[in-house]
Amino acid sequence: MPITAIAQNLKAPKVFPSYAPADDEVMIFEHAYRNCLPVLIKGPTGCGKTRFVEYMAARLGLALHTVSCHDDLSASDLVGRHLVNASGTYWTDGPLTRAVRHGGICYLDEVVEARKDTTVVLHALSDDRRILPIDRTGEVLEAPPEFMLVVSYNPGYQHLLKGLKPSTRQRFISLAFGFPEPAREIDIVITETGVDHTIAKHLVTLANALRSTANHDLEEAPGTRLIVDAAKLIATGCPPQTACRAAIVECLSDEPEITKALMVVVNAIFAHS
Ligand SMILES: Nc1ncnc2c1ncn2[C@@H]1O[C@H](COP(=O)(O)OP(=O)(O)OP(=O)(O)O)[C@@H](O)[C@H]1O
Ligand SMILES: [Mg+2]
Repeated sequence: MPITAIAQNLKAPKVFPSYAPADDEVMIFEHAYRNCLPVLIKGPTGCGKTRFVEYMAARLGLALHTVSCHDDLSASDLVGRHLVNASGTYWTDGPLTRAVRHGGICYLDEVVEARKDTTVVLHALSDDRRILPIDRTGEVLEAPPEFMLVVSYNPGYQHLLKGLKPSTRQRFISLAFGFPEPAREIDIVITETGVDHTIAKHLVTLANALRSTANHDLEEAPGTRLIVDAAKLIATGCPPQTACRAAIVECLSDEPEITKALMVVVNAIFAHS
């Protein structure tokens, strides 16, 4: 059965998030799903990783269970734990177990942040065993075909201690995301906010100027999220330069000298708008 047919046979989503594809990532993701393979998405902040997963979940008619990983997140946070109430202890599934039991995408955002004890759980689910052993209840759940594991991380934030182990990386189909090409980014800004083409073009020109190699002082280049936010402010009547200061420049640096220099770029681009 062609993959598009699989997607069409599934329940139509209530809300279909807008997503502008960069390349062949939709097709690759569908093939991964069809083959019960997990997917890893890597890329800088605000470049569309989460939006892509939301879009794919809607397209495939799958529930989406999202977990934002942090350095305290343990295997029990994913799998579940016993809780206590007046009538005694009872078991409660974590988001990963819910996705395995009921089907859907379990999306672990910033997976490299999670504690290392999560690796054991993820390995058994992401190779051809596709099982989730729940030590505390003695259950071993087999993942159904409607279960998919998706993880993402930002390689820019990685440091030596927090890389993904090769044995983890090599279990996943990997997609590398970057900032959109200008024409696509202009379309995204217009679709997301309704600003006119000239404003969208100026914002994308600004983003690319700030992303260029001249700005080594920035910890992270501005993602599409920042220019979409600036465009939202402009769409509701905020003056463009003010919107760019609040939604872009001040989000990129706390150093007054740097923000001043970035505002020079903003003012040059928006001088005649
Ligand atoms: N390809 C795209 N199609 C539509 N909107 C996009 C796309 N890429 C980025 N956006 C816009 O940028 C915003 C930020 O994207 P998203 O939240 O997916 O980034 P992210 O890569 O998950 O970032 P982070 O690593 O910080 O979580 C979205 O809410 C959307 O407005
Ligand atoms: Mg995200």
